[in-house]
Parts: sequence; structure tokens; C-alpha cells
Amino acid sequence: MSEVTPEAVSWTWLDGQVLPTAEARIGVLDRGFLYGDSVFETLRTIEGRGLFLKEHLDRLRKSLARLEIDFQFKDPWMEQRIDQLVQQQIGTEVVLRITVTRGDRIDGALEGSGCQPRLVVMSSPITSDPPSHPLKLVISSRHKTPPEVFDPTIKSGNYLGSIRARDEAKAAGADDAVLLSPDGVVTELTCANLFWITDGTAFTCDDALVLNGITRSVVIRLLEEQGVEVRVGRFSRFELNRAGEAFATSSIQGVRAIGSLEGRSLESDAPASLCKRLIEQYQQYCRQVMTEGAR
Ligand SMILES: Cc1ncc(COP(=O)(O)O)c(C=O)c1O
Repeated sequence: MSEVTPEAVSWTWLDGQVLPTAEARIGVLDRGFLYGDSVFETLRTIEGRGLFLKEHLDRLRKSLARLEIDFQFKDPWMEQRIDQLVQQQIGTEVVLRITVTRGDRIDGALEGSGCQPRLVVMSSPITSDPPSHPLKLVISSRHKTPPEVFDPTIKSGNYLGSIRARDEAKAAGADDAVLLSPDGVVTELTCANLFWITDGTAFTCDDALVLNGITRSVVIRLLEEQGVEVRVGRFSRFELNRAGEAFATSSIQGVRAIGSLEGRSLESDAPASLCKRLIEQYQQYCRQVMTEGAR
């Protein structure tokens, strides 16, 4: 039997203790469990430090404030919790998930007042290179939840819309799905932001309809720095269909090329395609940020 080394196990910080994730327990009254009444962040480490950690913690605070979950923390305090986990996994990069639930409500009432928020921080080792083949996408029959129903800029624990759209995409033989708003605006993928390039201009959905991705902001800046016009707005599937190239962005995948949409190829063979260049530039930028000491 092979021995399980500490660095190969997922670890969790809960109630002041660090323990193997498989042994971490929360109660059945937790509202994250009951209703998805929680917020979270997912990020990766580079050389043991959280990539764009400050930006993730800022977005966590915004999500908490928008849901009126009263959980206060200082960045150095959270960094210490993360360091405790990362120390278990020296030599391995990890994916970190920071979750804050509204906590328990003993009487089971729906309203969210009177709860004590609960923090759970988890780290799982990145043991192999994540898949990098260009994504095969379909357009989902399900709509992105509009801001009038639930603000999509909140990174809440309720991912049912994304889960159902991902399952539908997988059943159709695709990797992921593009979600349209109820009035036909191209928004994002199930767990990533979407960009496409038409005639040298980059397009992506407007801030109010999508999660304001940390990777998305970096990519917008990198594109603009190289003189590419970035149009952030409300575009229909007809505009997406005119794309020559497309890519997805997220903290775990970075920049990921999209190979096809609804069976139409979007892969550029040109070695200098904008997407290929951007994948390199993004990786280089991340290394630079980490060597300059930013957390
Ligand atoms: C719905 C959704 N959109 C976009 C993203 C990408 O955001 P980020 O670049 O901050 O990881 C995610 C990441 O989990 C997501 O779940």
C-alpha cells in the first residue's frame, strides 16, 4: 500500500484547528449547507503564496457586505490561516478555497439575522498539470441569473445554475457552456469569464451581469497595454458567432483557449494568435507579481 504523505492530502482550517479535509465536520444547521447561504473565493498558490490574494480578499469582503454577513477579518490574519495550511504541503502548489457561511440558526427560521458566521479554509494539492486542451463549448438552454433576481457579482455558495448548465454541456459532449441572460446577452461560462476576438478587438460582458473575475481584470489590462481595444458591454450570440478566437479566464485555469463553439472551430493555427500570446503573457505577469513580493 502506498503511503499517503501530508503534502498529498487536502487540509482544512476550521475553528482554529488544521485537520485533514476528510475529517473536517460542520453541523447540519449550517446555512451554507441548508441554503447555499455563504460566500467564497478560490485561488491558487505560486511558490506557496496565494496568487492575487489581496484582490480575492477584497472581493470576499464585497460579497460579505452585499449579503450582509457580518464577518470581519484583517488580511494578515487570513494570510496566517492560509500559511498554516500551505505549510502542510511544502513542495506542492495548492488550490485554496476560503468559505464564509452565515452560520447556524438554531430555530430553523429562514431569515438571516442572529447567526454567527463560520469560516472554513481548505487547501488541496495541485498534483498534476490541469487539462489545457482548447475548450469545446455549447450555448446553454439555461439563462444566467439576472441581477434583478440575484446579483451575479456576489460569489455566493449557490452554484446550482452553473452546475445544471455544466451537466447539460457534458451530456452534449462539450466541456462547458456559455450562459445567455434572459434577454439574450452573452454573459460568461459556468465558472469562468468569457472573451472573444473579432477583427483584432476583444469583447467581454459588462460588469453588472457577471462575476467580476480577478483574472478578467488582469487580462483586460494586459490586452489594453498591448494596444488591443477591449469592448466591455452587452453583446448577443450573433456577435459572438463572428469571433475568430475566444478564451476563458479564471483563477485556477488562468487564460484557457476555446477550441469550438456549437461545433464551429475557433482555433487559430497561427503561432502568434492573440490568445496564444496572452496565455504566455498572463503566466509571465503572474510570475512577475509573485517575485516582486505582492501577495
Ligand atoms: C461564475 C464565475 N465567473 C467567473 C469566474 C472567474 O473569476 P476569477 O478570475 O476571479 O477566478 C469564476 C471563478 O470561479 C466563476 O465562478
